[in-house]
Amino acid sequence: MTDAALSADQQQPAEPAVLDDVPGWFWEHDRHLFDWFLGRQEKAGLSGDLLEMGAYLGRSAIVIGEHLQAGETFTVCDLFDSDAPDDDNAAEMDMSYRRTLTRTAFESNYLSFHDRLPEIVQAPTSALAGGRVPPGAFRFVHIDASHLFEHVAGDLQVARAALAPEGVVVLDDYRSAHTPGVAAATWEAVLNHGLRPIVLTEAKFYATWGDPEAAQLDLLAHRGTLPRCDMTNEMIAAHRVVRIGGSSDGAEPFRVSRHHARLTVEAERRELARAAEEALRGAERERDEALRDLAERRTRAAERRRPVNVAKRAVGDLLPPVVTSALRRARRG
Ligand SMILES: C[S@@+](CC[C@H](N)C(=O)[O-])C[C@H]1O[C@@H](n2cnc3c(N)ncnc32)[C@H](O)[C@@H]1O
Repeated sequence: MTDAALSADQQQPAEPAVLDDVPGWFWEHDRHLFDWFLGRQEKAGLSGDLLEMGAYLGRSAIVIGEHLQAGETFTVCDLFDSDAPDDDNAAEMDMSYRRTLTRTAFESNYLSFHDRLPEIVQAPTSALAGGRVPPGAFRFVHIDASHLFEHVAGDLQVARAALAPEGVVVLDDYRSAHTPGVAAATWEAVLNHGLRPIVLTEAKFYATWGDPEAAQLDLLAHRGTLPRCDMTNEMIAAHRVVRIGGSSDGAEPFRVSRHHARLTVEAERRELARAAEEALRGAERERDEALRDLAERRTRAAERRRPVNVAKRAVGDLLPPVVTSALRRARRG
């Protein structure tokens, strides 16, 4: 999560039409890089399970689930509506997620884009430790749950055990001002536990316990994954680090949900009804104005026809102007 938490009153549409309708913290560069990494593994014939720790309302899970191949499992672990395992984690949950997050909302969003739910572990991510996930069976792990150092360090250990040698781990919020625990756990894993960076975006840290070089060379050869992105290539403590940033223009939008066509027709109908209603109100306003105008003109004509006014006009017309003004002066005096 790179921004402050979503505002408390942010309401998600009951039926998302597009990925952006699903609240969350998953931006275009990363959506595109997830597709790139997962697609690259698929092209290379690599098979393996997928894991997300911290799904919130499903924005990133929906994209990961798009890459599930036959015979693979996608596991999502999140507290959803359950209690946090400690007070600090409970405070994080209260501050950022409690008012908007339910497992039902996650499931409804996910099923708007996919036919089947992933395997859901509704528990602290620590429940995945100790062999709950098959070791070496995964090709992609996204760590985006608690931002507290101890939790992230534990999540990294789960990821390390779960991933196959060529597997990719992605850490969210490795450099945000409000998540120093993630930064500490991430670089600690690099400096002390063999994690090797592949590429960094503003929000996420892509790495592997295998060999990062082939993916890095691919990125460098193609100048990133998007036509207008910026790329840098530097060494940090003997690790090559590629960074991608800048514009995410040119990213193909994620496919629409199963509700999109119906919601579009409904929105068009609402727009037509609104335009018709507005036209009707406009016509009524014009008719009322015309009636008011007519009534005023009739009143003025009737006024002119009153006998006293007719006489006044006749006198004015008949007497010479000198007499008329003398009469007016006399009346005023
Ligand atoms: C930043 S959000 C995830 C955002 C999501 N990946 C997206 O793209 O929108 C963090 C999620 O982690 C969950 N979470 C926080 N602490 C957790 C813990 N100890 N175990 C499991 N899930 C946790 C929260 O319920 C929340 O849904």
